[in-house]
Amino acid sequence: MPLNLGDTVPDFSCDSSVGQIHYYDYVGDEHWSIICSHPSDFTPVCSTELGNLAKLLPQFEKRHCKVLALSCDSAESHRKWIEDINASGYCGNTKKDGGVSYPILADEERALAVKFGMLDPAEKDERGMPLTCRAVFIVDDHKKLRATILYPATTGRNFYEILRVVDSLQLTDEYPVATPANWERGEKVAVTPSTPDEVAAVVLGDFAVVKVPSGKTYLRLAKDPSSKTPKVLKRGLVETILGTEYGAKLLPTVGRLVVSFILGGVFAGASTKTKETATAATQNGGRKKR
Ligand code: BEZ
Repeated sequence: MPLNLGDTVPDFSCDSSVGQIHYYDYVGDEHWSIICSHPSDFTPVCSTELGNLAKLLPQFEKRHCKVLALSCDSAESHRKWIEDINASGYCGNTKKDGGVSYPILADEERALAVKFGMLDPAEKDERGMPLTCRAVFIVDDHKKLRATILYPATTGRNFYEILRVVDSLQLTDEYPVATPANWERGEKVAVTPSTPDEVAAVVLGDFAVVKVPSGKTYLRLAKDPSSKTPKVLKRGLVETILGTEYGAKLLPTVGRLVVSFILGGVFAGASTKTKETATAATQNGGRKKR
């Protein structure tokens, strides 16, 4: 059965370039993970991809995201291949960053590739066995599959795009927003259609309604909330905020929210139902339940 978005990614154990891997133990409870499949070792495009992943590893770590690759050869073959990748120039500074340090899973029998629906029936190896396509599974800290991309063996992936998708998923989990076309961190976000204006005003601050011929107000744009509201605000720990580097910057926002709550001004004119929704959304910072 192929995995659908929102499904729990099943646990697995297998050999890898760094020894036996137990997926759930390796990732732990607090990290996201990406699993990238590759057709086979010692192939040109895969080598550039794995090198690029090694170079971008600090970016994935910043996002609390572990990286795992998968290729349909043995762990020993993977370790030999890594020597080539590290020497290929695609890893950045291997002396400083250590080259490919994340595990490459050994899936010689294609057991994982079949389990996860990662096979490309159009591409066969010299034995006539189907190759794995270039799949990426983005898995959240609850082991839920949150996004997949599927490319043919002949097209290398763009790992900046994968970082961008992780950014979008992590942001939209925290706030009632969606990220527009080509969005990158710090750029404007769209308020989700189910979010009332009153809630958007509290959680996101000012937002602009883009005028469209239909007169409808569905295109509401706000600043990227993560660039102005650190997570500490959502935990409601004012002391923590004041003790952080963000404290000074945040003080006007905190003050505005406190005054708004005391005066009830934020919700003036809102229906009781909206008030409840707004309060709930504010208490959990707009975080969606998964
Ligand atoms: C590659 O990684 O370069 C590759 C692998 C299989 C088919 C085509 C290209």
